[in-house]
Amino acid sequence: MAFPILPATLALLALVSLAVAAGDNSTPSEQIFLNCGESEENYDDIDRTWDGDADSKFAPSVKGVAATASYQDHSLPSNVPWMTARIFTSNYTYSFPVSSGRMFLRLYFYPISYGNYTVSDAYFSVTATNLVLLNEFNASQTAVSNAYFSGMSSAYLVLEFSVNVSTGSLDLTFAPSAHRNGSYAFVNGIEIIPTPDIFTAANTRLVNGDNPAPFSFSPDTAFQTMYRLNVGGPAISPRYDSGFYRSWGIDFPYIFGAYGVTFSKDSNLTIEYTPQVPNYTAPLGVYDTARSMGRNSQINLNYNLTWILPVDAGFSYLLRFHFCEIQYPITKENQRSFFIYINNQTAEEQMDIIAWSGGIARTTYTDYVILTIGSGQVDMWVALHPDISSRPEYFDAILNGLEVFKLQSYGLNNLAGLNPPLPPEPDVNPSHSDKPSYLPKASGGGKSKGVAGAVGGFAVLLIACFGICIVYRRKKKITKDYVNPMSTLPSNYCRHFSFAEVQAATNSFDQSFLLGKGGFGNVYLGKIDNGTKVAIKRCNPMSKQGVHEFQTEIEMLSKFRHRHRHLVSLIGYCEDKSEMILVYDYMAHGTLREHLYNTRRPTLLWHQRLEICIGAARGLHYLHTGSEQGIIHRDIKTTNILLDDKLVAKVSDFGLSKASPDIENTHMSTAVKGTFGYLDPEYFRLQRLTKKSDVYSFGVVLLEILCARPAINTLLPEEQVSLRDWALSCRKEGVLKEIIDPRVKEEITPECFSKFAEIAEQCVADRSIDRPAMGDVLWNLELALQLQDSASYNSSCTRGASSRQIIEVHSNKPSIHSTVSTAAQEDIFSAIMHPEGR
Ligand SMILES: *[C@@H]1O[C@H](CO)[C@@H](O)[C@H](O)[C@H]1NC(C)=O
Ligand SMILES: *[C@@H]1O[C@H](CO)[C@@H](O)[C@H](O)[C@H]1NC(C)=O
Ligand SMILES: *[C@@H]1O[C@H](CO)[C@@H](O)[C@H](O)[C@H]1NC(C)=O
Ligand SMILES: *[C@@H]1O[C@H](CO)[C@@H](O)[C@H](O)[C@H]1NC(C)=O
Ligand SMILES: *[C@@H]1O[C@H](CO)[C@@H](O)[C@H](O)[C@H]1NC(C)=O
Ligand SMILES: *[C@@H]1O[C@H](CO)[C@@H](O)[C@H](O)[C@H]1NC(C)=O
Ligand SMILES: *[C@@H]1O[C@H](CO)[C@@H](O)[C@H](O)[C@H]1NC(C)=O
Ligand SMILES: *[C@@H]1O[C@H](CO)[C@@H](O)[C@H](O)[C@H]1NC(C)=O
Ligand SMILES: *[C@@H]1O[C@H](CO)[C@@H](O)[C@H](O)[C@H]1NC(C)=O
Repeated sequence: MAFPILPATLALLALVSLAVAAGDNSTPSEQIFLNCGESEENYDDIDRTWDGDADSKFAPSVKGVAATASYQDHSLPSNVPWMTARIFTSNYTYSFPVSSGRMFLRLYFYPISYGNYTVSDAYFSVTATNLVLLNEFNASQTAVSNAYFSGMSSAYLVLEFSVNVSTGSLDLTFAPSAHRNGSYAFVNGIEIIPTPDIFTAANTRLVNGDNPAPFSFSPDTAFQTMYRLNVGGPAISPRYDSGFYRSWGIDFPYIFGAYGVTFSKDSNLTIEYTPQVPNYTAPLGVYDTARSMGRNSQINLNYNLTWILPVDAGFSYLLRFHFCEIQYPITKENQRSFFIYINNQTAEEQMDIIAWSGGIARTTYTDYVILTIGSGQVDMWVALHPDISSRPEYFDAILNGLEVFKLQSYGLNNLAGLNPPLPPEPDVNPSHSDKPSYLPKASGGGKSKGVAGAVGGFAVLLIACFGICIVYRRKKKITKDYVNPMSTLPSNYCRHFSFAEVQAATNSFDQSFLLGKGGFGNVYLGKIDNGTKVAIKRCNPMSKQGVHEFQTEIEMLSKFRHRHRHLVSLIGYCEDKSEMILVYDYMAHGTLREHLYNTRRPTLLWHQRLEICIGAARGLHYLHTGSEQGIIHRDIKTTNILLDDKLVAKVSDFGLSKASPDIENTHMSTAVKGTFGYLDPEYFRLQRLTKKSDVYSFGVVLLEILCARPAINTLLPEEQVSLRDWALSCRKEGVLKEIIDPRVKEEITPECFSKFAEIAEQCVADRSIDRPAMGDVLWNLELALQLQDSASYNSSCTRGASSRQIIEVHSNKPSIHSTVSTAAQEDIFSAIMHPEGR
């Protein structure tokens, strides 16, 4: 299969005709799926046929040992090709006869012990013909690091490369490290998917300080995919990719600072590929969801919507931004215009999607190349900010998808970086820092310290090649409150406890260790290892749902093993002797309910309550969006929101959770479960479960926090029994303020109160379609917190003339859905001008 040659300087018109031609040819004719360590043909989860590598024509007299994984991690999408591996203790080369041209090469690694081969000895390099893809590669370290930084609990890796082969054969060599005795190489699967030239674009630009320049790379440059994100939307699995079995992840874990808002296309729109964007560029699922900055122009003008993506230093990167306007009323030029910054340099000054794409619901993308210097890993900053120079109608920015590819350096046969740093060690003495440090202090992988001195010959060579100069700004370490330091336990497994261990931990279920009781059984305080406190839930074997819920809980929590800060972590379980026991992190402050009413605990301040709401909303939002399908909790209530020693809220109890089948909020039909008072009436009526059912329950939780009374109280007069109904009727009458917790009445500001009440009301809307998604709830709660906090800045803040001007520019053109009063906006404004209050 031959593809037309495309000199990088070709004009747009030529690109169009090429793209169409390539589109016709793009059905790959010789895909290869090789399941290493297997002798038979097998099918994976999306029905692709994988050949075994024993006796395969690609592996003549294959050496090495065929091995089977010692353990099947929950996160593996399928047995094939993950559960078998080929192990090499000396160099071995697979030889794939392929037509010349570009192809994706995907390497599958499940780092785990295989028989006598322990995972820590896997240390090797992989070369494709002459190109080094991986060097001194530690798959286990890479998987742990990836999982941590992406917030995904995958125990496996798929590394994707794109190479342009001209010799008629792709030779893939696995070589154990010569620098460490006992090293071996392994691989679980090899996938080869021919593609047309998907990298060359007519107007790729080099981001270079104030002098962006056209950029072209040689057509045989090799690439490694670093990130492929469906911004603002769900993950898209290889099955739903538009042709090349690519996998699109979620962007949420990489966001730094404010999240903006996510949304999907208006239902009366049909997205079309423009001629410049052949349909294999990205599936429509990428274009039909997006993230924008938000509804408030004032806020937007004062922050950057930012993603931070760790990459290997010393390489250049191709960044492809996918765009499509997908909501009315944005249909014309100069309605929304924004800056794109990469590593704090301006990549695009007036990004107006309509101008690029030609209209609403039309796809487009832009490509930029940027160099990174230093060694080890560095953070790539991608940021968007409204551009108001042309006085657009809305001060906002939008992004639908983002791909980041590492480029083979010009003239060098290398794509390999260092192994990424491991996550930070758990904080043994948690009292000394409030925010967990996002990046390790000192790690084997080595973040560069004195970067200036570390600019090696490599980077210098690159600079010489491109004849440009680079301004390097010294990096500050970033902190991120998104992911918690990992638990003390090995991250790869959910630990298995023996019954004896559990007995020892709880002094044989001593009554004095009892923390709580419920229909499921009892919860005990336990001490494991060297006195680490844990909560031990001993499920009642008599409980009918017991077994199923026990399994669901393990399954759900192990999906999220990489420890979201706002989800209770499962440490392990015990199922000896027909016992069903779960071991969790101990939450020193118990349930949220204990702090609200019928309690002798000190009153939570309104500010603390807001922080707790935001934490719980983050946890729930992560449940909904953090895995491919998303998970519906089904039993959100104040007793399932726990507080740790610093009053950080964590969502717990996943026994009723369900993987949500939806891509676009479709529903699943299922027997009604949950807790009375929190149950979504629509779910109850129609037996239709959606993520919006959790939103409803969460709304009841918000009301409970505001009013400090139970969701159902049958001792009260009939109209007051249901908190939700009572609060809604009070709000209608304009007297909601009279039923709120008197202990916070003084503290809560009117702006915050009205925002909070609005959120709660929307959450408990009768029809699920009228309820916001958790992402919007989260965003609005953060706004409520700003409204609360900004009150304290009000008096002390003096604004400069330039910021006043911005407000005036804005006041001619109201923002899209602004719901906040002008006074409140100014409060937010001052809060942002003094962000240290948060
Ligand atoms: C693995 O262990 C088994 C016995 O446990 C032994 O027979 C075999 O030779 C070992 N293989 C290697 C490669 O060490
Ligand atoms: C690979 O990384 C793991 C940590 O995930 C470590 O335990 C192991 O020793 C490393 N192996 C080598 C050969 O460096
Ligand atoms: C194995 O391959 C590596 C890297 O390709 C090479 O450096 C080494 O010399 C090879 N070893 C042997 C014994 O051929
Ligand atoms: C490997 O082992 C041999 C002999 O046991 C030793 O001489 C050599 O230094 C070791 N090499 C490395 C890289 O550790
Ligand atoms: C592959 O590289 C050759 C030159 O080495 C070039 O002519 C051809 O266009 C490239 N193919 C693709 C699909 O990039
Ligand atoms: C892309 O378009 C081609 C024809 O132009 C069509 O054959 C193919 O099915 C389309 N692929 C997808 C994934 O839509
Ligand atoms: C599509 O729906 C939006 C509201 O969602 C409306 O504003 C717009 O006018 C509709 N457009 C057409 C073409 O029907
Ligand atoms: C947004 O990022 C650009 C580039 O780093 C920076 O110059 C600007 O100050 C940032 N704006 C805000 C409001 O953070
Ligand atoms: C971009 O600027 C921010 C602060 O303005 C800084 O923390 C960060 O390190 C910079 N990023 C890069 C890649 O220089």
